[in-house]
Amino acid sequence: MNSSKAVVVVVASLTGFALIGTLVAYAAGIPAEAKYVGTNKCRLCHLKEHKTWKATKHATSFDVLKGDEVKNPDCLACHTTGYDLPGGFVSVETTPGLKGTGCEGCHGSGSEHIKVAKTADEATPWEKKINKVPLNTCVKCHNPHVNQKARVAKLRAAAASRSD
Ligand code: HEC
Ligand code: HEC
Ligand code: HEC
Ligand code: HEC
Repeated sequence: MNSSKAVVVVVASLTGFALIGTLVAYAAGIPAEAKYVGTNKCRLCHLKEHKTWKATKHATSFDVLKGDEVKNPDCLACHTTGYDLPGGFVSVETTPGLKGTGCEGCHGSGSEHIKVAKTADEATPWEKKINKVPLNTCVKCHNPHVNQKARVAKLRAAAASRSD
């Protein structure tokens, strides 16, 4: 691939991120009306998974953002849960429970899952309305060809020189 093509692909993959996220989320049968509800709601029934998740960097992925980065859409797309999607992260003040890469960052929006889980009869098979894990979940945020640390260092240097 020539370099101009590569640039187009990188830009397209970043701007197309939210769309891809939406497609991945709904591909496996999450109802279209499902909304993001935040990790604390999942904890109530999935204590074991919550404990293992809490020990990962996903739980604190918001905390690496500095200063105005906590308001920068270019960062929030991957460092919060459901940014710009129904019920998803808006700001630290209004949606603190959606900071970082919560359960729904990988499993998709959970409101409809919780509704059916509450009424499900354990003995009878029921429609779970959530993704156990669709194949390309991780690549919404992880690109093995991008050195994220180097990219962030460059962006931060550029931001610092603008504010001088
Ligand atoms: C009212 C209880 C309850 C709540 C709240 C709840 N779940 Fe579940 N969930 C269940 C039950 C019951 C199952 C089926 C048994 C199991 O696999 O543990 C399940 C299964 C799952 C599965 C596996 C699906 C599959 O196909 O096997 C995932 C993933 C999941 N839940 C994620 C979540 C997420 C994310 C949240 C928060 C948005 C959440 N759950 C909230 C009760 C709940
Ligand atoms: C496309 C998704 C994506 C976007 C957009 C994104 N990040 Fe990240 N970021 C990641 C992932 C994934 C990692 C984990 C590193 C890895 O394995 O590539 C990471 C790691 C980091 C780290 C390193 C944390 C550590 O442990 O050293 C910092 C700092 C960071 N990002 C800040 C930012 C800032 C600031 C922005 C906005 C300018 C941003 N990120 C935008 C996905 C993203
Ligand atoms: C970084 C992505 C990621 C995050 C974040 C995440 N999970 Fe998972 N989850 C997975 C993967 C991968 C599996 C294994 C799927 C498989 O076996 O096919 C899984 C499996 C599950 C299962 C099925 C039972 C099991 O333990 O294998 C449940 C229930 C579940 N997750 C709930 C949660 C809850 C609740 C949270 C938040 C506290 C959460 N997950 C956060 C990726 C994630
Ligand atoms: C919504 C965005 C998002 C999704 C989806 C996601 N991650 Fe992450 N992941 C991140 C961010 C952001 C970090 C950086 C956290 C930090 O450094 O504090 C990270 C960090 C990690 C790390 C730790 C890297 C290190 O330096 O120690 C691993 C491992 C990881 N992710 C694996 C996965 C896997 C496997 C999946 C899919 C099942 C996945 N992630 C899905 C955003 C995401």
